[in-house]
Amino acid sequence: MNALSFAKALVALSAGLAAAGAAQAQAPAAAAQPPIKVGLMLPSTGTFAFLGEMIDKGFRLYVQEQGGKLAGRDIQYFRVDDESDPSKATDNVNKLIKRDNVDVLVGTVHSGVALAMARAAKESNTLLIVPNAGADAITGPLCGPNIVRSSFSNWQPGYSTGVLAAQKGAKRMMTITWNYAAGNETVKGFTEAFEKGGGKVVKDLTLPFPNVEFQALLTEIAAQKPDAVFAFFAGGGAVKFVKDYAAAGLNKTIPLYGSGFLTDGTLEAQGAAAQGLLTTLHYADNLETPRNNAFRKSFALTYKQNADVYAVQGYDAAQILAAGLNAVKGDITKRDAMTAAMRRATVDSPRGKFTLSAAGNPVQDMYVREARGVNNEFRSVAVKALADPARGCRL
Ligand code: PHB
Repeated sequence: MNALSFAKALVALSAGLAAAGAAQAQAPAAAAQPPIKVGLMLPSTGTFAFLGEMIDKGFRLYVQEQGGKLAGRDIQYFRVDDESDPSKATDNVNKLIKRDNVDVLVGTVHSGVALAMARAAKESNTLLIVPNAGADAITGPLCGPNIVRSSFSNWQPGYSTGVLAAQKGAKRMMTITWNYAAGNETVKGFTEAFEKGGGKVVKDLTLPFPNVEFQALLTEIAAQKPDAVFAFFAGGGAVKFVKDYAAAGLNKTIPLYGSGFLTDGTLEAQGAAAQGLLTTLHYADNLETPRNNAFRKSFALTYKQNADVYAVQGYDAAQILAAGLNAVKGDITKRDAMTAAMRRATVDSPRGKFTLSAAGNPVQDMYVREARGVNNEFRSVAVKALADPARGCRL
């Protein structure tokens, strides 16, 4: 090699090295993007433990189906057991916000705990996706651009069950629930629709959350003999209530209606006591759509158990987060563009496609379901595209 070609070779070599260096400088920068920190605040103990577990599984399933990343960013999970205890809620959510510095909060099941989460999310301007708790205020007076829900407002399934009960011809009804936001607001939604449909709620019965000593209240129902009863219970409490109602013989004489949580994720444990119960909810197990079938298959293969409404809501919380992250190519610092994209999303949910209201709550079809075996089977649409009235939301 002469001097000239040696010099050329050197130039070529150094150009190549420089190019490689530039490429290297870029590659680690992309790869070194820190993961998106997701704070899952859910119950893993108490009457709602199973519900929290299904939400967690649904969320992780969607992320796993995307290869473990959303918009090219790894997802790192932080998990706090909120015990469905409102008195510990502010401390618990601050573990995720202040200690773990999460980018987004996902939670929770219990309305009272979720209200504290929404306040903390507003104060700290942290993104919050609510995958169950229906507290009306979250997409009412507490609404904000950084808060969305993948589930429902308490008013929604209450209202659609009121429509159903009136259609079935009940005139005098009693209600029974836990005395806390979810119970009271669901009963309010129920009463609004039922009385609009010509019925009358003659008495509201309550007991403190999460008590399951139903006997005295069942005795009162038997004495009053209403045309039918509306109940809001969920999780372990719903299992016991439905069994106690049947054991008292009331299921033979006084039809029981419920928002669908009364029989969702609970049918195996409720057995014969739940068979034939009519409820309304934004999901039914056997919706024969390619989307629902694929979801249920994927869930069953991954977890060796059947999906339920809580799994769907967790899955859709991840879908809403993905819609926001995709719009900003994973750059979570572009907060306004991200939250606007989350609000604009049409979510391709196993329940059927839904959009979010201006307040951030799903606008969705509410289905009549009948409990058969271990499934809540679709019967009809109780109310199409039901939107929460979002009373008190100012954006
Ligand atoms: C609630 O507290 O908002 C709540 C809890 C369990 C459910 C539904 C709503 O299944």
